[in-house]
Amino acid sequence: MKTIRWGIIGLGNIAHKFAADLALVANCKLQAVASSDETRAQQFAEKFKANNYYSNYDALLEDNQIDIVYVASLHPLHASLSVKALEKGKAVVCEKPLGMHSSEVKQIMGAAKKSNTFLMEALWTRFNPAFEQVREWIHKGQIGELRYINATFSFNGLDRGKASRLFNPEKGGGSLLDIGIYPLFLAYHFLGKPKDVKASAILSAEGVDEQLSFILSYDNAQALLYSSFVHDEDMRASLCGETGEIYMDSKWHATSNVNLVKASKEIKKSFPFNGMGYTYEIEEANACLRSGKLESPKWRWEESLDMAILMDEIRKQVGVSYPADEQSLKK
Ligand SMILES: NC(=O)c1ccc[n+]([C@@H]2O[C@H](COP(=O)([O-])OP(=O)(O)OC[C@H]3O[C@@H](n4cnc5c(N)ncnc54)[C@H](OP(=O)(O)O)[C@@H]3O)[C@@H](O)[C@H]2O)c1
Repeated sequence: MKTIRWGIIGLGNIAHKFAADLALVANCKLQAVASSDETRAQQFAEKFKANNYYSNYDALLEDNQIDIVYVASLHPLHASLSVKALEKGKAVVCEKPLGMHSSEVKQIMGAAKKSNTFLMEALWTRFNPAFEQVREWIHKGQIGELRYINATFSFNGLDRGKASRLFNPEKGGGSLLDIGIYPLFLAYHFLGKPKDVKASAILSAEGVDEQLSFILSYDNAQALLYSSFVHDEDMRASLCGETGEIYMDSKWHATSNVNLVKASKEIKKSFPFNGMGYTYEIEEANACLRSGKLESPKWRWEESLDMAILMDEIRKQVGVSYPADEQSLKK
């Protein structure tokens, strides 16, 4: 089996977790890493046994020993870095959100099409085995027609400060793009595109959504969704149908435990992770690359785009804008 050679760009918090999980996946390796800071790159390479490290991203993209690049930088850099990598013929797994807005997502998709190269948004929940169980229950009709989804994603990030990526608009701050994307994904995945969206937010002094409620409406269903950076919360998700309910345990987006409640009986299923839960998206990307796919059938480009369009609409309703929006309008 071909060994898939990974490169990582942007060596922050998530890159560390991803690299630790990459080491647990068979038939792939960490070939090289790149950071804007040489010492960080060197230390990261030593810690995770990467064959090589670079102090600039372009050098990594020129490395012909790399098959696929994981873009782990801040949201506003996802589009430009992904496009650059795709133009160099590197496959890309890019952290969520794939772009700051739908125009950026279209640009990345265009670059992947043009270079005939694999692209996937790292929406890791989609590849989680507990999530697969939820899909199976729903698709086998275990809860009947799905009528209601309730999902939230909150944590208290106030101690990170207003200059941090959570609150700073220049760094893509705001809860929707960072964590609200998960509840949105849950509703979109199971109910599809809504016929109506209504959003309400409390904006921070910097003008980003620090608390956000949004309702997606369908002909026969509603999804009540929420994200926040200003308080902690027990994050469970409920999916309720006419003949049963599914509960995803806290923290639902990364859970190993899901429960089906039907006719007053509860079935509990547990799927312990190997690692922190990122191995599944890595395995998916490896399998897609080996079989010559351009996109994952589990999380297609169009699905990332639909989500970006929904997030554009939610942002418009609550009045959150970014420097990246201006750039898109100028183009
Ligand atoms: N899937 C998940 O579970 C998950 C969890 C957390 C975050 N994420 C996603 O991963 C991305 C990175 O999040 P993170 O928490 O890892 O962020 P982080 O630790 O704050 O920073 C990640 C990297 O971004 C680069 N960067 C570029 N411009 C920067 C600037 N002006 N200030 C600070 N850093 C800058 C730096 O890379 P250099 O090393 O090159 O300097 C930094 O190491 C986000 O888009 C987020 O949505 C995903």
